[in-house]
Amino acid sequence: MSDIPSALEPLYPEPGADLGSILDERLTSAAFDAAQAVVRCSRSLGIPSYAVGGPIRDMLLGRSVTDIDVVVEGDGISFAGELAAGEKGKMVEYARFGTALVVLPGGVKIDVATAREERYVKPGALPAVEPGSLDRDLLRRDFSINAMAVRLGPDEYGRFVDTYGGIRDLEAGLIRVMHDGSFTDDPTRILRAVRFETRYGFSIEDRTYRLLEDAVRSAVLAEVSRQRLREEIVAVLKEEEAHSAVSRLYEAGVWKDLFGSDYRLPKKLEERFQSADEAIVWYSELAEEHGLTGARPWLVRWLLLMSDTPLGTTERITSKFHLGKTALKSISELKERLEKVRRFLETGDFGSKSTLYRMMEGLAPETMIYTVAVSGREDTLHRIEQFLLELRPIEAWVNGNDLKVMGLPEGPLMGRLLAQLFDAQLDGIIRTREEAHIEARKIVNNRSR
Ligand code: CTP
Repeated sequence: MSDIPSALEPLYPEPGADLGSILDERLTSAAFDAAQAVVRCSRSLGIPSYAVGGPIRDMLLGRSVTDIDVVVEGDGISFAGELAAGEKGKMVEYARFGTALVVLPGGVKIDVATAREERYVKPGALPAVEPGSLDRDLLRRDFSINAMAVRLGPDEYGRFVDTYGGIRDLEAGLIRVMHDGSFTDDPTRILRAVRFETRYGFSIEDRTYRLLEDAVRSAVLAEVSRQRLREEIVAVLKEEEAHSAVSRLYEAGVWKDLFGSDYRLPKKLEERFQSADEAIVWYSELAEEHGLTGARPWLVRWLLLMSDTPLGTTERITSKFHLGKTALKSISELKERLEKVRRFLETGDFGSKSTLYRMMEGLAPETMIYTVAVSGREDTLHRIEQFLLELRPIEAWVNGNDLKVMGLPEGPLMGRLLAQLFDAQLDGIIRTREEAHIEARKIVNNRSR
């Protein structure tokens, strides 16, 4: 067991091999404790249990494994109940799928599922599930590299189960579906295939890619709920090499299918994603140091993905996929200010401090990062930094209450006057609080005359 099990050698064991000591070595200490708890529970109930799916794939690739997914050949929910009780953890039950989530006292999560078969009644819809053996359970999964398991208990701890050639594909770097109906059963696998391909630098196996293209052509993605699509889109945008996945999905026709025919893939995609990554690092450091609101990198990438698409279409797509209020806000911010921001980006001239302030005021951090990324200019970054650190914290010398005391009623005029006074303060035209108050009184008196 170790705390930093990343960057280890990949391993390609034979099916049936004893991976006990490898498992112990490659799990973080918390995941190791979780696996031991499952072994204990398996022994006390006499029910076979296995660690399966993504964590096994990642363990073999030499990556860090922090959580485990468990399948039991028996009732998963009562197993999870015993596990939670035995370890003084908590359990959340998903009865419809025969799965449960156990959270151990240290916070480690264990997904426990009944080994099951799934029947897809209709493409894209959630499947009907029936209890089954481990092998049947592995067969219903998306790709061979995700269909390997390691036995945890009650005996044969560490026995490697690879019924469907997952290790062969892992070694060859191939993403291969378990059967021809995989993408129509669950069209979100179209995005998953590309995501894994990008993440591991693998290739989608030829036949699998043809099946993927066929599935896209027959518009199966339209059958999937928008919520599930949203999760998959966000997952793509969270991948480190997201730009490759984005291009590949475009080539496969996925974006046009989901977003409509006036969707345009941005030019210079890789370059822009790279600038965005740099801008995200810049902003995160700034946010940490100065206690600013954090930004969501996937949202910046979403804005980039939409950067060559008409704004109306972008807004429609963003709300269709429930990409959140901030996303919509960022999009409409861009729409409103695009011309100004563009002019500024082209000339690098933000004008006075008040102009800069008005341009940046209230923008979501994601929009600012996007602006830096698209401009690709050092001075954009400096001016935004100036806004965030120097201008935004400035308190206005005259506020609404002061104007009310001077006899001005609340209303749009008051708003305009406050903005005018604050702009003069920012630009150094008014230099002291006193001067600001004198100026305010003068304006109010002039108006009432
Ligand atoms: N799975 C599947 N079909 C899907 C989603 C998941 O067959 N549409 C199976 C795969 O065996 C997968 C496992 O369920 O390994 C767990 O799914 P999930 O946690 O979504 O993915 P991971 O493979 O763990 O990938 P990631 O590293 O992105 O979390």
